[in-house]
Amino acid sequence: MLAERTRPAPPEPMLPRRFTVLDVQAETHDTVTLGLAPVDGIPMAFRPGQFAMVGRPGFGEVPISISGDPDEPARLMHTVRAVGDATAALTRCAVGDPVFARGPYGRGWEEESGTDGDVLVVAGGIGLAPVRPVVLAVLRHRERYGRVVVVVGSRTPTDLLYRPQLEEWAARDDLDVVVTVDAGEPSWRGNVGLVTDVLPDLDPAATLVLVCGPEVMMRLTADALVRRGVVPSQIRVSMERNMRCGVGLCGHCQLREVFVCVDGPVLGYDRARTLMTMRGL
Ligand SMILES: Cc1cc2nc3c(=O)[nH]c(=O)nc-3n(C[C@H](O)[C@H](O)[C@H](O)COP(=O)(O)OP(=O)(O)OC[C@H]3O[C@@H](n4cnc5c(N)ncnc54)[C@H](O)[C@@H]3O)c2cc1C
Ligand code: FES
Repeated sequence: MLAERTRPAPPEPMLPRRFTVLDVQAETHDTVTLGLAPVDGIPMAFRPGQFAMVGRPGFGEVPISISGDPDEPARLMHTVRAVGDATAALTRCAVGDPVFARGPYGRGWEEESGTDGDVLVVAGGIGLAPVRPVVLAVLRHRERYGRVVVVVGSRTPTDLLYRPQLEEWAARDDLDVVVTVDAGEPSWRGNVGLVTDVLPDLDPAATLVLVCGPEVMMRLTADALVRRGVVPSQIRVSMERNMRCGVGLCGHCQLREVFVCVDGPVLGYDRARTLMTMRGL
């Protein structure tokens, strides 16, 4: 009874909550991963593929995927690439700084629907951030899936995110990791080319495909897999559109009848294919 009474009330879903930066990991020249602790002590439990609206005081808030381990929600993780004011401010965070975040929002990968089949994850650039939680979730329940392959594309080897984790994954017997870069460096011994050049042969009838990256890369990947016989609804992509509210109220992310913030960001390619050609607000 006492425990019931002293348990903190669940946070309001629209209310920004205060977090403190626990650690900052530089990933590349313009990208960092932030580990955040909630000041109110209530973890932001999330499903792989969901995002939060995140910002530093005075710089506005932007949608950023949650890039950590869904089984460790006490440490909220975001991998942020500096492209404008809000994201650059986040990449300049130091340990102890305050950050506001609200969420989690949106539909995730729903990887459970791929149980008993193979799973192919294809990520390009910063697109590795939204898929890292789903790879961790699949590995946590590895016995539920058949073959699992992660294909990662990057502009150059120095633009690769999570290098130590990729090496750890590559060393596993139960996971295939394929990395390819657009442009190699003298010391690079790996693949050079597009992710579509290194897609593995998997049973198209029993494979769940999860794709995240620049829209053109997602379209080329999904189309290549459809040509191999994967049905579009078995291919999921994570869409990016400008967002303000994150909860289906403001219409900023609306594409036809779809509100990317609540119906997505993860959508089946059967729905996303035509939406991808549409500009948002
Ligand atoms: C669901 C969702 C999840 C996201 N997850 C992440 C994530 O995990 N990590 C992350 O770094 N970003 C992520 N983004 C993108 C991020 O929200 C934008 O980069 C951010 O809103 C830009 O805000 P800004 O104020 O820094 O720049 P703005 O001033 O809004 O934009 C600056 C310039 O960058 C361009 N730009 C805006 N967004 C992007 C983009 N995504 N890629 C390239 N150029 C862009 C603009 O057109 C403009 O020219 C996600 C977006 C969505 C919708
Ligand atoms: S961001 Fe407001 S409706 Fe989607």
